[in-house]
Amino acid sequence: MDEIAAEVKKMVKNIDQVLQELTLKEKASLVVGAGYRSMLAGILGSKVPVPGAAGMTRPIPRLGIPAIVLSDGPAGVRIEPRRKGSEASFYCTGFPIGSLLASTWNTELVERVGEAIGNEALEYGVDVMLAPGMNLQRNPLCGRNFEYFSEDPYLSGKTAAAYTRGIQSQGVGACLKHYAANNQETNRFWNDSRVPEDVLRKLYLRNFEIAVKESAPWTIMASYNRLNGVHTQQDSWLLTDVLRGEWGFQGLVMTDWTGRRDTAAQIEAGCDLMEPGKHSQIREIVRKVKKGELPEAALDTCVRRVLELIVKTPTFKGYRPSLQPDLEAHASVAREAAEEGIVLLENREGALPLAHGTTVALFGVGSYETLAGGTGSGHVHRPYVVSLDEGLRKEGFTVEESLAGTYTQYIGKNRPRGSSLSRMLGGPATPEMTIGREAIEAASEGADIAILTLSRQAGEGGDRHLEGDFLLTEGERQMLAAITEAFHQKGEKVVVILNIGGVIETASWKHLPDAIVLAWQPGQEGGSALGRILSGTVNPSGRLPVTFPVDYFDLPSSRNFPYDFHGKDSFLSGKEKDADVRNVGFTEYAEGLDVGYRYFQKEGTPEVSYPFGYGLSYTSFQESAPVFSDGAVTVTVTNTGAVPGKTVVQVYHPFLCAYGKTRLLQPGESQTLTWQLEGENSK
Ligand code: BGC
Repeated sequence: MDEIAAEVKKMVKNIDQVLQELTLKEKASLVVGAGYRSMLAGILGSKVPVPGAAGMTRPIPRLGIPAIVLSDGPAGVRIEPRRKGSEASFYCTGFPIGSLLASTWNTELVERVGEAIGNEALEYGVDVMLAPGMNLQRNPLCGRNFEYFSEDPYLSGKTAAAYTRGIQSQGVGACLKHYAANNQETNRFWNDSRVPEDVLRKLYLRNFEIAVKESAPWTIMASYNRLNGVHTQQDSWLLTDVLRGEWGFQGLVMTDWTGRRDTAAQIEAGCDLMEPGKHSQIREIVRKVKKGELPEAALDTCVRRVLELIVKTPTFKGYRPSLQPDLEAHASVAREAAEEGIVLLENREGALPLAHGTTVALFGVGSYETLAGGTGSGHVHRPYVVSLDEGLRKEGFTVEESLAGTYTQYIGKNRPRGSSLSRMLGGPATPEMTIGREAIEAASEGADIAILTLSRQAGEGGDRHLEGDFLLTEGERQMLAAITEAFHQKGEKVVVILNIGGVIETASWKHLPDAIVLAWQPGQEGGSALGRILSGTVNPSGRLPVTFPVDYFDLPSSRNFPYDFHGKDSFLSGKEKDADVRNVGFTEYAEGLDVGYRYFQKEGTPEVSYPFGYGLSYTSFQESAPVFSDGAVTVTVTNTGAVPGKTVVQVYHPFLCAYGKTRLLQPGESQTLTWQLEGENSK
C-alpha cells in the first residue's frame, strides 16, 4: 500500500503538469466515457480490451494517458465469457448476491469475497469494479434488492466497507452505488425520491457514510433517480458538500449509465465522469467553457480526479493481466460465503439435517436449475451453476429418478432461449412446471422426504409485483399443499428451499412444511452449499438482513411504493413522463425512519413473519447480557447444543450498533466478543 501511495504522490505532482498540457477538448474528453462499445462488444463485435465490461474512459495517447476499464458488479466480474477469434474462455466466478453476503454477518468473509472479485478483475484487465451495490432495502418489491445488502444502514455500510476493502486490496478500484435513495426501479431515470434530510442522514446516506469512511473507495456512482427534485448526478449538496466536505471522500464520482443530462451542471456539482459517455457531451463542454457558461476551473477539478484515478489503476501501471485467475480457489470462497449466508427459517422436530442415505423427491424447477443470481448488470457469466440436485448427489443422497427425469425433460423443452441482449443480461428463468397429484403420490412412494424449491428472479429496470411474485402463485400454493398432504400422510417430511432474490410472503404457508431454508440466490456454488447444509456437514449460521413481514401492507413504505404499477418497465431512459403520478413520477418517503425493524420493534406494531437478525442453527447458543463499559461492549456466547456451529452476536442500542460472527464453536465451547462502539452508540 505504501508503495502505491508513494507512486500516486509522484503522479499527483505530475498531474499539475499534465493539466497544463491538456487542450480544452482533451480535458473534456477525459470526463466523458468512451460509450457503449465495450459493454456491447459481444453483440457489436467491437475491438476493446475487455469485451463486455460496462465502460471505459477515453485515452490521450500523446500524454501517455491510457483508457481504463470499468466493469459490473456486484456478484462477480461481468464480462463476455467468449471472444471472437479466441478459443479461450473468460468466465468469472458467480458469487452469491448481496443479500446473501449481508446474511453472513461476517465481514472478514465478505472481505475475502471482495478480494477474490478484485483479483479476477485484475487478472482480466479491469481497473474499477462497479460494486458494491448498497442501496437500502426500503421495500421488498424493489427489483434490485438482491444486489443490495440490508434494510439497516449499519449492516449495509459495514458489509459494503468489507467488500470494498477486499476489492481494493488487489489494486483495483471499487465503486459504491447508487448514491443515493435509489430504492425503486419503476421510472428509475426520472422518479423523484422525496426524503426529509434527517431521514436521509440516518438511513439512506448513513450506509454510504460508513463505507466511505471505513474503506476509502476509489469511486462512487450517482444514481439514476432524482433526490428532492435534483438529479443526484447534478446535486452539489450530495456530491460535494456531504460526500467530500463532511465525509472526506477523496475519490471520483461517476454517473450511472445515463450521463446525458445537463453535463455542465454535473461538472459544477462535482460529478467527475459521465458514463457511458457520448461525443456530443465533449462538444457541449468545450462550447460552454468557451462561452464562459462553465468555469474551466470546475472542469479542471473533475479532470484532476479522473487523472488521480487513472494513475492508481493496473492499466496505467502497465500490469499485464494473466487472463487466468484462479477460478477454482474463488469457487471455494463463493461456496463458503453461500454456506454462511444461507438462513435456516424453520426446522420442526429436527427435520434437518437429513439422515444419511435419504432418498429425496425433488420438486420445483429451481431444484434442477437453481438460480445463482439476478438479471441485468448484476448478472455474471459464470462457468457453471451447481444445482440443488447436483449438490444433494455430491453429498451422497439419492434423488428420486423418475421425478428428476420429468423435471429435466420439462426444462429441456421449456427453457426460454432469450434474445442476445437478454442472454447478456442473464435472461429469464424457466417457468415453474405444474405437477399433478398422481406424480406427487408416485414420487412419495419412492422417497423418504420431499424438497420443494420456490424460485424468484428480478433485475434492474423493473420492480417486483405482489401477485405471483411477493405472494406465491396459485400453482405454487396448490403444489405445496399437495406435496405436504401426500408426504405427511406417509409420515414423511417436507422441506421448502427459497431460491429468491428478495423477500416474499411466508406467513400464510410456513406452517405446512417441516423446514424452510432461505438459500437466496447463492451463486454458482449454491447447490454445493445447500447440499452441505442439508446433510449437516455445515451447520447454518446465516441471519436475516431484512424483515419478512406477515402482510406486505404492514410495511409503512408500502403506501408509497409502486406495488400496483403495471406500466412499461424502465430499462432504457426515454423521455420524462408521468411526473405528477404518485410513486412513479415521485415517491414520498413518508414513513420516515419507520423502515424495517426500526418500525416493527415499536410497541403496537404488527407481528412479523421473521424478524431482522433471525436465523436458526442445528445447535443452540446461550449469550450473556451485553456489558457496556468505556465505550466498548462485550458479550460471551456458549454453544449449549450437541453439534459444532457458528452464531452471530448482535448488539442493539436501540438499533444495530455492533455485530460479529463467532468462530466454529464446539459443544460447550465459549467465545467472548468485544467491540469499540462508535459515535452516538458509545454513549
Ligand atoms: C446500472 C448500474 C451499472 C451500469 C453499467 C446501470 O444500468 O444501474 O448499476 O453499473 O448500468 O452496467
